[in-house]
Amino acid sequence: MNRARTNNRFSRTRSGGTGPLRSSASGRSGGQNQAGGHGRRPAAIRGEFAPPKTVTPALPAVEAFTDLDLPEQLLTTLAAEGVSVPFPIQGATLPNTLAGRDVLGRGRTGSGKTLAFGLALLARTAGQRAEPGQPLALVLVPTRELAQQVSDALAPYARSVGVRLATVVGGLSIARQAGALRRGAEVVVATPGRLKDLIDRGDCRLGRVGITVLDEADQMADMGFLPQVTALLDQVRPDGQRMLFSATLDGNVDRLVRRYLTDPVVNSVDPSAGVVTAMEHHVLHVDVADKKATVTEIAGREGRVIMFLDTKHAVNRLTRDLLASGVRAAALHGGKSQSQRNRTLSQFRTGGVTALVATNVAARGIHVDNLDLVVNVDPPTDPKDYLHRGGRTARAGESGSVVTLVTPDQRRDMTRLMAAAGIVPQTTRVRSGGAELHRITGAQAPSGIPVTIAAPTPERPQRAAAPSRRGRRRSPAAR
Ligand SMILES: Nc1ncnc2c1ncn2[C@@H]1O[C@H](COP(=O)(O)OP(=O)(O)OP(=O)(O)O)[C@@H](O)[C@H]1O
Ligand SMILES: [Mg+2]
Repeated sequence: MNRARTNNRFSRTRSGGTGPLRSSASGRSGGQNQAGGHGRRPAAIRGEFAPPKTVTPALPAVEAFTDLDLPEQLLTTLAAEGVSVPFPIQGATLPNTLAGRDVLGRGRTGSGKTLAFGLALLARTAGQRAEPGQPLALVLVPTRELAQQVSDALAPYARSVGVRLATVVGGLSIARQAGALRRGAEVVVATPGRLKDLIDRGDCRLGRVGITVLDEADQMADMGFLPQVTALLDQVRPDGQRMLFSATLDGNVDRLVRRYLTDPVVNSVDPSAGVVTAMEHHVLHVDVADKKATVTEIAGREGRVIMFLDTKHAVNRLTRDLLASGVRAAALHGGKSQSQRNRTLSQFRTGGVTALVATNVAARGIHVDNLDLVVNVDPPTDPKDYLHRGGRTARAGESGSVVTLVTPDQRRDMTRLMAAAGIVPQTTRVRSGGAELHRITGAQAPSGIPVTIAAPTPERPQRAAAPSRRGRRRSPAAR
């Protein structure tokens, strides 16, 4: 159906209203997490996503980037980045998004959604020049780390076609972000809260935004984000292109789809569960009294591991204990300053930290190379959280394992959650020091010698006769 696009609020959507929105039990905000996790029931399974009808048939998928109408510079950059063949979600969506179609794209975790929307957005923006404070394209994401990652992933492609990117996230200098917008940025990658602040200050106007992407669209449609997201979508060009992507599109996005997409192409190559086949799922039964020792040994493995817990407090406590046991651990949650959060993630990526202990703030979208184990120290209560947390491993065709530690009182809820997530895990009874635990996770006792993770000294190019660092202003490149 080719309805005229409006920027109206819900009350003015087409007749029939918005209909009942299948509820989200979580209502998360800003990637934050709720307390609890013990004795709670898994969230009810949300209604299966009912894709909207596509009226104009979709263009067929391509199998090579050269089959697409992409600027030569983007093809060159793809080759330089070692990206030779489009992943399925890219091959399927790009012919349509490059032609300006709205898209609703569902592809497994780690299946390349960033480049799927990124290449279309950059190809269609290349050659245009933004006025100060008036971007032409917008990517909205739920967490600051993800905004940074998306910007970093797209940066070489943007540079090659002369498109200027600005990253707009909370917790970092708003003045600098305003400055970047003032100098002119064709593409803005943003978390909704900070973008709203910049708009309120008069530093940004969205009236010229002709392409809008919602990454992790189902989370952006959660109650915690929806009002901010719709307020922003109501400001972009009504005739512009919109793309919604996630590994888990569910009933949550119905409202956004009906209100903001026009005759969208629906790419739903993967089932809603978004199960990644190269991922092993293990439920490990542990005794309550042995759980701490078990977690410590898993964290002491060779190689990286990300451990998810429900609360900031639990994350801090486990990190402290692991450091005291000799594990190079660091905490990532919404209670840390943004510079700490950035530092922690970068140390995890470069190997200075081997055990990242995190809340759900790290569950969505974050990509770390060579990460082959995700551990749910606290079992998630929402099947989607299970899929996204687990999706930090086994990405881009790699393999990996997701391990969930389950105490006797949590077994029933875990069985329900796995069924809701569409996963049949291998269940094993384990104990610290045991062969099974070692076999599945590589667990080994850490040194027992306490470690501290030093903040790295900021990297600066060494120049001859450089003035004293103290008091020197930071270069723009350090932003
Ligand atoms: N065509 C490709 N060939 C090789 N590698 C690719 C290709 N496309 C993307 N990648 C790589 O795959 C990895 C995962 O991509 P990306 O982060 O976009 O996944 P995603 O689908 O957004 O996952 P999530 O649902 O977890 O956000 C990245 O390291 C990216 O560089
Ligand atoms: Mg992603």
